Amino acid sequence: MTTVTEDSELAGLRDALGLLKDREQVAQRLLESSAKHSFDPDKELDWDAPVEDGKWFWPPELVSLYDTPLWRRMSEEQRMDLARHEAASLASLGIWFEIILMQLLVRHIYDKSVTSAHVRYALTEIADECRHSMMFARMIEKGGAPTYPVTKLNHNLARVLKTVSTTPGSFACTLLGEEILDWMQRLTFPDERVQTIVRGVTRIHVVEEARHVRYAREELRRQMVTAPRWERELTRVSSGEAARVFSIAFVNPQVYTNVGLDRREALAQVKASGHRREVMQSGAKRLTDFLDDIGVLRGAGRRLWKSSGLLA
Ligand SMILES: [Fe+2]
Ligand SMILES: [Fe+2]
Repeated sequence: MTTVTEDSELAGLRDALGLLKDREQVAQRLLESSAKHSFDPDKELDWDAPVEDGKWFWPPELVSLYDTPLWRRMSEEQRMDLARHEAASLASLGIWFEIILMQLLVRHIYDKSVTSAHVRYALTEIADECRHSMMFARMIEKGGAPTYPVTKLNHNLARVLKTVSTTPGSFACTLLGEEILDWMQRLTFPDERVQTIVRGVTRIHVVEEARHVRYAREELRRQMVTAPRWERELTRVSSGEAARVFSIAFVNPQVYTNVGLDRREALAQVKASGHRREVMQSGAKRLTDFLDDIGVLRGAGRRLWKSSGLLA
């Protein structure tokens, strides 16, 4: 009996060591890639170039009202204006997420070996996010639209989350914040109808973000195997709740008022839009497939994901 327990403990330890080694290898590769492909947006992009006439700040198909009855009534000028405000709204959301993420990463490494590649990569990622947030802020200023903070309630919910959330929950939320915006940015940077500065910003972000997604995915996959049952359950529910909040907060409704539209009508049309549902579900697909694969989309958590509209 004793032998069996010892054997299984030894096997568990071997597994854990195997996972830790794997963790270091992943981090090592991400560090090598960071050394080769990192950008300084202040130097890399031409911030003094004038805004280009007739170019979009965000691809029209990715604008929330695209293809709705209201969109068809809007002039081209008003559509482009809405795209400019939505780009500012998404960039504001991006900065909010990155500031949360930086704190989550700092908390994640607090107890770990400072000389490990895993910690060194986390610090590299924090440095990436610092540059991104400054870059997004410059992009908002360049477009001339205001910043769009999230509601007081969401702002404070996130204050709690970033302070108390456990590791797997943190990485699940990280992926939620990163993958959907990343999917949109992959369509934005090659698009010749889009402003050069926005294409530059999204290109830099896509390149650096691919590593962040990899790091978070590997860590979450590991955690969903090693974390205790209560923590895995908590991760399912908290990520589902985060998805619900995220889908509502995605575009700040003040954008509609600011381009002269009726806010309630606009919100109702976005809600009823089949195109929009498809965009959001396509954007989330890569993420929801992955989360399903590692066992995050189960039970009450799955129901929350469905109610967010991000899971078909
Ligand atoms: Fe970022
Ligand atoms: Fe990131």
